[in-house]
Amino acid sequence: MINKIEVTTLNEQYINKQPQAVIQYFLDQYPGEIVFSTSLQAEDQVLTDMICKHDKTNVSFVTLDTGRMFEETYDILHRTNMRYKINIKAMFPERDKVEQMTQEKGINLFYESIENRKLCCHIRKTLPLMRAIEGHKIWITGLRRSQSVTRKDIPMIEWDEAHNITKVNPLINWEYDDVWDYIKKNNIPYHKLHDKGFPSIGCEPCTRAVSEGEDIRAGRWWWESPDNKECGLHIDKR
Ligand code: ADX
Ligand code: SF4
Repeated sequence: MINKIEVTTLNEQYINKQPQAVIQYFLDQYPGEIVFSTSLQAEDQVLTDMICKHDKTNVSFVTLDTGRMFEETYDILHRTNMRYKINIKAMFPERDKVEQMTQEKGINLFYESIENRKLCCHIRKTLPLMRAIEGHKIWITGLRRSQSVTRKDIPMIEWDEAHNITKVNPLINWEYDDVWDYIKKNNIPYHKLHDKGFPSIGCEPCTRAVSEGEDIRAGRWWWESPDNKECGLHIDKR
C-alpha cells in the first residue's frame, strides 16, 4: 500500500503532468496491482487507448454492468475489446440485493426519491466496484475536474478513504475538447450516443440527451439538483 504522505507527494509531483506520463509511472511501478474502471464513455476510451499503448498486460480492466445499461454501451464494450484485444470484465450487482430492492421499492424506484436513487446506485454500482478494486493498490478513473461542481477539487492522485485505495485520475486537468481532440487524432472507437446529444452516459433510465449549451452532466439524473449528482462511486454522501 502507498501511504497517505507518499500519495500527497506523488500528487504534487504529477499534478501538472500529461496523462500519458502519469499512466506510464503507475503501470511501470505497480504491474499487476492496478484496476481501471471504464464506463466506456469518451474519457475512459482515451484512457484505454493510453494504457494499451504503454502496457495493457498488467492492468485489470473492469466495467460495472448495472443491468440497466444502454444497448449502445454493450456495443462499444464489445468493439473496444476487439480493437485493443483486451477483456474488460463486466461486474454485476448481487442478485439477492437487486431482487429485494426492486420487489420492495419498485423496478424504477430511482425516480421516487434521492434516497431510492442512491440506494439503487449503491447496490448496482458501488458494491460491485468495491469487489472489482479489492486486492489492488491503484484504481484508475476517467474523472475530470471540469465535469461538475462536485468534482472541482479532485486531485490527480488521491487517497480514497472510503475505498481504501490510491486513486489516480490522469485526465483530471483535461477539458471536454481535449478528450475529443485525442479521440479524433487517434481514431479511437467511441460510444454511439455521444453523436446523439449525450456528452455523459450512465444507466439508460437515468441519462438523457442534453440541448446545445446545457451542462455536460445535465442529462444525468436530470430531475435532481447539480449538488446531488453523484452515484457514490467517487463521492459517497449516502
Ligand atoms: S458517475 O459516478 O457519475 O457515474 P461518471 O459517469 O462521470 O461517474 O464516470 C466517472 C468515472 O467513474 C469513469 O471514468 C469511470 O472510471 C468510473 N465509472 C463510472 N461509471 C462506471 C461504470 N459503469 N463502470 C466502470 N466505471 C465507471
Ligand atoms: Fe440505478 Fe439509475 Fe444509479 Fe443506474 S444510475 S444504478 S439505474 S439509480
